[in-house]
Amino acid sequence: MAATGKEQQGSKAFYVTTPIYYVNDAPHLGHAYTTVAGDVLTRWHRQRGEKVWYLTGTDEHGQKIMRTADANGVSPQEWCDRLVEEAWKPLWEHLEIANDDFIRTTQERHTARVREFVQDLYDKGEIYKGEYEGPYCVGCEEYKSPGDLLEGEGDFAGEKLCPIHKKPVEMLKEENYFFKLSEYGPKLLEHYERHPEFIQPESARNEVVNIVRQGLEDLSISRSTFDWGVKIPWDDKHVIYVWIDALLNYATAVGYGADQEKFERTFPADVHLVGKDILRFHAVIWPAMLMAQGLPLPGKVAANGWLMVGGEKMSKSNLTGISPQQLTEHFGVDAYRWYFLRAIAFGQDGSFSWEDFSARYTSELANDYGNLASRVAAMVNKYFDGLLPESKAEGEAEQPIKEGLAEAVAEADRRIGDELDFAGGIAAIFDFVKLVNGYLTEQEPWKVAKDTSPEAQERLATILYTAAESLRACAVLLNPVMPRTSGLLWDSLGAEAPLGALADQRVQDAGAWGLLPAGTRVTKGAVLFPRLEEPKTA
Ligand code: ME8
Ligand code: MG
Repeated sequence: MAATGKEQQGSKAFYVTTPIYYVNDAPHLGHAYTTVAGDVLTRWHRQRGEKVWYLTGTDEHGQKIMRTADANGVSPQEWCDRLVEEAWKPLWEHLEIANDDFIRTTQERHTARVREFVQDLYDKGEIYKGEYEGPYCVGCEEYKSPGDLLEGEGDFAGEKLCPIHKKPVEMLKEENYFFKLSEYGPKLLEHYERHPEFIQPESARNEVVNIVRQGLEDLSISRSTFDWGVKIPWDDKHVIYVWIDALLNYATAVGYGADQEKFERTFPADVHLVGKDILRFHAVIWPAMLMAQGLPLPGKVAANGWLMVGGEKMSKSNLTGISPQQLTEHFGVDAYRWYFLRAIAFGQDGSFSWEDFSARYTSELANDYGNLASRVAAMVNKYFDGLLPESKAEGEAEQPIKEGLAEAVAEADRRIGDELDFAGGIAAIFDFVKLVNGYLTEQEPWKVAKDTSPEAQERLATILYTAAESLRACAVLLNPVMPRTSGLLWDSLGAEAPLGALADQRVQDAGAWGLLPAGTRVTKGAVLFPRLEEPKTA
């Protein structure tokens, strides 16, 4: 396959971001879902040979964090430091997230540039002083339209509730600074029109187009009734609205206003991964801010659906009762990374179930894939003393395997790398695993082995070579999703000595046939996906 433009020296990196998460509490399955998706996407592009930049981080200002810190009797900064170091960073390490940077909005490299950005907009006449009066949800840190609120019942009778948090909104009446967002409607609509891929999935795009068509109001970008935030440079009685502060992380983290060279080779993002709860901020407000400043717009805002619990979006106040760590303890980190992307169509809502996870683990990971790997290694050891035999008797039976592999590679590369269809891409790889299992069942190498004629021994060699070469490709294709077990398989095939490090193998070339040379030392490695113990919970 031709090298992509991104491989050339000095070109812009493929830049992917996650939301920067609020640190009012520890991360849950929902945060891990988006972050793992970004990790798989960026590892995939790295294995295409592209330059990649993967950014995540934490959103640390605003009323929600301030109140949580107060309630815990510590300063907001102490609270954030504790949560970041004890909960957020350790989970990302545990899940093998290979982010290139971690931005915190309380860092000077961020706050100084946020002030400059806002000052610039003020100087350009994009910001004016006014009064805001209306409902606000501290859970969302968002100004709400009265029409979007729910009527409270029971404890909340007579109050208006946030439709996401199902908690009463607060009525604000304060002097604020406003950004002239209303002026950007036509330009935004034109951009959505010209770049249909800008917002994904289609349902998310339609939602945003409708919001903008209805007309945008100017946006309040400061708060004056508390002080946990970045001060407005020309008026220090105000702090910058936490969302303006937060969105700018995508620029400040890659050198905006500080390292022009880095900025140019990274910005703008190719993909902003977000949950659909924060789509409007990323697909309306963020591009308008960039337009106002004459900066380039991101390539794509991709909204993942919600992990649901009992028909509602899973959130900090509404958890499954299961932490990411409990699942990794039972299923392992690789299976965890695989499961949510495999089981839920990206962009759509999905429910998590322990039973579904167990069933898929057992059938696809342990039986189909893990068993294939261990059977092939065992037979190469038994019949060829652990040295991968040469394939000299290829026949018709091998054709569908080679073709099936080429198709799986093309499909996985397109779906995962370009379309963010993780479930479809992973399914293509596991369909290929099934094909190889079917091939072994038909070819019955254990029976062929009993015939000591030279012809039979050559067939045996070809069958086992074909299966091992297929596994070589699986290790390459699954490495972005499951780096640990893919590495184990790579070791067990003895692939590193002839082919180099697994992470350096190109996904788009994984379908070339005959890469694993005969003579590699195949060892019976660790079991990739051990049989599950009885779950302690559920
Ligand atoms: O919104 N299902 O932070 P946040 C799927 N600080 N994804 C989920 C989820 C669920 N049930 N729950 C959370 C903020 N997420 C802001 C972002 S960005 C400039 C500022 C994921 O801690 C999903 O990506 O509330 C969602 O958008 C994000 O976590 C919200 O995290
Ligand atoms: Mg939230």
